[in-house]
Amino acid sequence: MSIENQENYQAPTEIKDLDIVNTYELEEAAKEVVPKGGYGYISGGSGDEFTKKQNIESFNHKGVLPRVLADVENPDLETTILGHKIRAPFIMAPIAAHGLAHETKEAGTAKGVAEFGTIMSISAYSGATFEEIEKGLNGAPRWFQLYMSKDDELNKLIVDEAKKDGATAIILTADATLSGNRETDIRNQFVYPFGMPIVSRYLTGSGENMSLNNIYAQSKQKISPKDVEFLASYSELPIIVKGIQTPEDALIAIRAGAAGIWVSNHGGRQLDGAPGSFDTLKGIAKAVGGEVPVIFDSGVRRGEHIFKAIASGADIVALGRPMLYGLALGGWKGVRSVLEYFETDLRRVMQLAGTQTVEDIKRAKLYDFKK
Ligand code: GLV
Repeated sequence: MSIENQENYQAPTEIKDLDIVNTYELEEAAKEVVPKGGYGYISGGSGDEFTKKQNIESFNHKGVLPRVLADVENPDLETTILGHKIRAPFIMAPIAAHGLAHETKEAGTAKGVAEFGTIMSISAYSGATFEEIEKGLNGAPRWFQLYMSKDDELNKLIVDEAKKDGATAIILTADATLSGNRETDIRNQFVYPFGMPIVSRYLTGSGENMSLNNIYAQSKQKISPKDVEFLASYSELPIIVKGIQTPEDALIAIRAGAAGIWVSNHGGRQLDGAPGSFDTLKGIAKAVGGEVPVIFDSGVRRGEHIFKAIASGADIVALGRPMLYGLALGGWKGVRSVLEYFETDLRRVMQLAGTQTVEDIKRAKLYDFKK
């Protein structure tokens, strides 16, 4: 039995705006309010957490160059991705089980994301139903992240539901064909304290009281380019392949019909020993060559990081853990505060780097510390 099972898992309930100095302090504050098992699951990485640390460290391999006489004022963060105009070049990353962080679950996150004006990624391992999440989204754009079933008939049903719910893209997470070695979860004997209604049709149970290992094992492990082809032709939606860390895999995904490449190492939660995700981005973006959009995640904690990712070839970035910390501390308002923090921080960096628009960031040259 886990340290906190269904009956005694008490997720935070507060709803309030947050004053955020930085996202590291946000994490420390969230640790105080999220139950131990849930906090360990959200914050933890795999193995030595080498890759999780590299995700942040790798941003220090490049510098943002201050630019002067640039004729810039009040930079504009708005951008467009796969047909959606968004307020800033960042969206919500897909994360399982938001109910660990707040009693409002994914509906809380969704409301914060919608109120801010960007895209919500709904995880297949969501603890809330599509209908519950819609209460927060209220018609705002959403992408659906899929962990496939071994049974394609069930995959079709899940895709049908996501389409009916209004998903405008499917994110196929391809780097989690089994769980990374999450030692914190093993130590805490972590199991989800509630079910996962979207995928429960392919699990032996609802998801409640199951470990991530068990759930991944029941999801499809043998994922190949054929799955991308199948999802693209069945769903008729753009398929974004998530978990890409090499140029080769980006090209394989595109040849199979991917309409987007999501550069990510799953926040350092899967293969420990992998490089920081940011270190892999430039080479991948070069290979993609603008053929499809590039989305980046893993380790984004500051406006500088967003700037560096976009200057290295990402079209937008996705925010993960800091969003759940905001949810834990302030519900939907906390999520909105996190997005506003990143907006303010990125706008400051853009100003000091002499960039008026997101397109200008794409043209900015970064300083290479390894030179
Ligand atoms: C699920 O996607 C996880 O990384 O825990």
